[in-house]
Amino acid sequence: EKGGYAHFMLKEIFDQPDCISDCMRGRINPNTCEVLLSAVDTHKEKLAEAKRFVIVGCGTSWHAGLIGKQLIEAFCRVPVEVEYASEFRYCNPVISSDDVVIAISQSGETADTLAAIELAKQRGAFIYGICNVVGSSIARATDTGSYIHVGPEIGVASTKAFTGQVVVLALLALALGKVKGTLPEKEYHDTVAALMEIPGKMKQVLSENAFIADLSKMFTYARNFIYLGRGYAYPVALEGALKLKEISYIHAEGYPAAEMKHGPIALIDAEMPVVVIATQSALYEKIVSNIQEIKARKGRVVAIVTQGDTVIRSLADYSIELPPTLECLNPLIAAIPLQLLAYHIAVCRGMNVDQPRNLAKSVTVE
Ligand code: F6R
Repeated sequence: EKGGYAHFMLKEIFDQPDCISDCMRGRINPNTCEVLLSAVDTHKEKLAEAKRFVIVGCGTSWHAGLIGKQLIEAFCRVPVEVEYASEFRYCNPVISSDDVVIAISQSGETADTLAAIELAKQRGAFIYGICNVVGSSIARATDTGSYIHVGPEIGVASTKAFTGQVVVLALLALALGKVKGTLPEKEYHDTVAALMEIPGKMKQVLSENAFIADLSKMFTYARNFIYLGRGYAYPVALEGALKLKEISYIHAEGYPAAEMKHGPIALIDAEMPVVVIATQSALYEKIVSNIQEIKARKGRVVAIVTQGDTVIRSLADYSIELPPTLECLNPLIAAIPLQLLAYHIAVCRGMNVDQPRNLAKSVTVE
């Protein structure tokens, strides 16, 4: 059932190109580069008239939500807030029928997310669910939604569900941006075309597995890690750090790269590995100077770079190359080396990767 892989987690990481294709199937017309998301089609007015979106979720699903915020704000020009479901439900949130709440949950059974939905419903919000498990409690509690269709996720650490969630959020932002007229036609079609290329690019990244496995051996005994990224890569940094914590039990923190100098830089020394998502982006030069600051303090840098990069390659201790894509879709491929890094470090440490201690696949109690 593990299809020849040592663990479900590794299988699920490698399944991502197919999962993403399944997730997009029937939702993108490859000939016209048009997105058709039935929930958006059916609830056009309600979604287009929303004054605000509030995304709720926990853990990895919350990280996907942070990327969703950037996508929806960029394409639909409407404000989006992202809340931990567990905080939202107890903070007497200002929410009304002008709001659309997007609830993200792989299992569809997370107690806090379900409670957040019930509260938002009582206050009149329209609820859009993004779930994996068909017919789950959260899927049933929502007004509409889109399944991510990535197949059962067995490994406790979420991998393919994360990329599936980001794909659905991208489709939602594209479809709604089109309905609202806020997304220029060319950007819409270019983004859809780039999205269709993601499964192939994921395969290229997966071909670096052996290199990442080798690299992981250098970090078996690390006690701490810092993960840095900016913009669309910031939530990926958070997700990379979460993966490492969950399965290798190494303490890891994700930070927006520019926040480093406001505190975490004090932690950097020769013992501190820093994973930096340093792919081509509007803020590339700033990331270069962050890496220089880390190297000046003898931190060990693992950089995730775009193919052909020479500047960061010469600064970093290790570089992992990604094929180029649009910055807004980069999380879909940048997440993969971080998943593999966490996986291989955990394996080197002899940990039970699929069933890490203290964690359950669905958190049905608060
Ligand atoms: C991370 C992980 C958890 C879940 C979180 C939400 O690898 O598995 O952080 O993402 O418990 O679960 P769902 O998405 O099922 O609501």
